[in-house]
Amino acid sequence: MNTNRKNIDAHPLRKRIDMIEGSSIAPEVIAQVKKRAEGAKSVAVFLDSNHSTEHVAAELEAYAPLVTPGSYIVAGDGAQAFVSDIPRGKPEWKESNPLIAIHDFPKRHPRSSKSTTGSNGSAPANPPTAICAAFPRGCT
Ligand SMILES: C[S@@+](CC[C@H](N)C(=O)[O-])C[C@H]1O[C@@H](n2cnc3c(N)ncnc32)[C@H](O)[C@@H]1O
Repeated sequence: MNTNRKNIDAHPLRKRIDMIEGSSIAPEVIAQVKKRAEGAKSVAVFLDSNHSTEHVAAELEAYAPLVTPGSYIVAGDGAQAFVSDIPRGKPEWKESNPLIAIHDFPKRHPRSSKSTTGSNGSAPANPPTAICAAFPRGCT
C-alpha cells in the first residue's frame, strides 16, 4: 500500500472521505466524480495531481463545470512556474505548469470564469496556489 493511502486510511476524518481511484482525467473517473457531485449544494474542487499545463487544462475542462456559484476550483503548485531552478526543481516546469492552464482557461470561457493567484503578487504564495474563480454550473 502506498504512503498516501496509508495516511488517508489513518486520518481522523477518514469516514468523511470517499475515494475514486484512477487518473483524474480518465473518462470513467470524471464520470464518477460528476455523479458524486450531482445535486450537491456546494462544490469546490482542488486539483493536485500531475502539474503539467496539459493535464491541469484537461482537469479544468472536466471539473470546472461542477463548481457551484460562489465557490472555486483551485490548482495547487502554481509556483512551479517560478521555482524550476531550485534543488529538486525541474527545468520543464518553466514551460509547463498549472499557472499557464489557470490563466488560459478564462480566455476559453470568458463568460463564466476568471483567474486569480493565491499570492500577494510579489512572491509565490505558500502553499503556492493558483485559483480559477468560480462560475455557475453549466459553463460554456
Ligand atoms: C503533488 S502530489 C499530491 C498528493 C496529495 N494531494 C497530497 O497532498 O498528499 C501528486 C499526486 O498525484 C498523483 N497523480 C499523478 N498523476 C495523476 C493522475 N493523472 N491522476 C491522478 N493522480 C495523479 C501522484 O501519484 C501523487 O500522489
